[in-house]
Amino acid sequence: MKISVIGTGYVGLIQSVGLSKLGFEVTGIDIDERKIKKLNSGISTLHEEQLEEELKLFINENLKFTSSYESINDSNIVFLCVGTPQDDFGNADLKFLYSAVESVKKYIGDKPKTVVIKSTVPVGTCRKIKEILKDYPVEVISNPEFLREGIAFKDFFEPERIVLGVENPENIETINLLKRVYNHFEKKGVPFVISSWETSELIKYASNAFLATKISFINEISKFSDIVGADIKTVGKAMGMDDRIGPKFLNAGIGYGGSCFPKDVKALGKQFESFELESKLINATESINQTQTTWFFENKIKKYYGDVSGKTFAVLGLAFKPFTDDLRESKAIELINILLKNGAIVKGFDYIEKARENTINKYTLSDSKSLGYSLHILDELNDTLFNVDGIIIATEYDFDKENWSELKNLVNNPVIFDGKNVMDSKTLKSLGYTYFGIGKN
Ligand code: UGA
Repeated sequence: MKISVIGTGYVGLIQSVGLSKLGFEVTGIDIDERKIKKLNSGISTLHEEQLEEELKLFINENLKFTSSYESINDSNIVFLCVGTPQDDFGNADLKFLYSAVESVKKYIGDKPKTVVIKSTVPVGTCRKIKEILKDYPVEVISNPEFLREGIAFKDFFEPERIVLGVENPENIETINLLKRVYNHFEKKGVPFVISSWETSELIKYASNAFLATKISFINEISKFSDIVGADIKTVGKAMGMDDRIGPKFLNAGIGYGGSCFPKDVKALGKQFESFELESKLINATESINQTQTTWFFENKIKKYYGDVSGKTFAVLGLAFKPFTDDLRESKAIELINILLKNGAIVKGFDYIEKARENTINKYTLSDSKSLGYSLHILDELNDTLFNVDGIIIATEYDFDKENWSELKNLVNNPVIFDGKNVMDSKTLKSLGYTYFGIGKN
């Protein structure tokens, strides 16, 4: 079976390499020729565990990348995996998607095809795509992805469910081809959810919005917990022991970031609005998240110093989450900007070299004055902590594993602001640190 995958971002690249590992003949398509060149020489354009090793195994075997759309003609299945970024008003911008659909139309030929939408798209999009392709022998299927950055390749091979949205869920003939593609997972007992297009499209948004809501909920509770002197970590842990609630995504912190939650929560709110509905819950999830980092700065950091101007801080963690190099909507970067704006000097560190590099590039492009003057990105934790007036944890790495007893000798003032509640406060206090977490002291 021949497969074309349009788009080589997170979703498309993982899909291309994953499907080639499953034995299919795959062509990955992207307009970015530099990316294509790199991928064809076995170099991954993403920082993802396992990805480059696997890419090297299949490239020039049953996997190739190209910037031409011609392979569509010869393919049985075309996966659309292009980005649907946020437009200026918070809606999902579908320009890349519709341009990919036009390319499919151009190269479709007369061989019947299944066009699979993996991009996150507003409810109703598959129906519109079918309308655009109505004169061609094409089935349109919605197949949202649930990959997490950093462990996306593992997630591809261990899905918790596979959702397939079709025009008519009664007529499952249309998914036969796709079921052959995902046969490996069916044999492993992975549940398949077969639904209408609209249901499938909404499953994706509702899943991300629900996880984001769990985070904003615990962040909201953490503020109350802070005032009444409760320990939010224990609150979250005990809540999670109830099967109906579940333990995950109840870690309070400076808020959620990344390329998915912020954009998808906003886009879902906008979809409500487009039907003249208001979702108070979705809007609250977003607004709690938007103010969480500032709340942390005002109520923890600024409250301690009075004025942070001229003070030096070590900000530990730069990417939006551990083991990625992705700075999109990173709360660590938001915090750095707040500190710089308030006149502080910032020393930033991340365990991932590419995350440090991306931070340097970001500030070189946007504001060369802060980089090297009031912002320094360092390669070693020790250098980052040297002579600082405060340490801020901004990403949920297991920083606890570091030798904080020795590290204490480096700092000017042993005070830790734990923006992700990942540190063991008792041990730190016993070592002589002053500790501020979220929802506990
Ligand atoms: C998220 C979803 O988890 C995936 O299922 C989905 O496929 C993906 O979006 C997508 O739509 O493509 P991802 O953006 O990789 O995946 O990141 P998460 O691991 O979900 O974390 C998102 C943010 O939430 C991070 O900034 C993290 O620090 C924050 N978070 C997470 C918390 O603040 N508290 C928690 O308890 C958990």
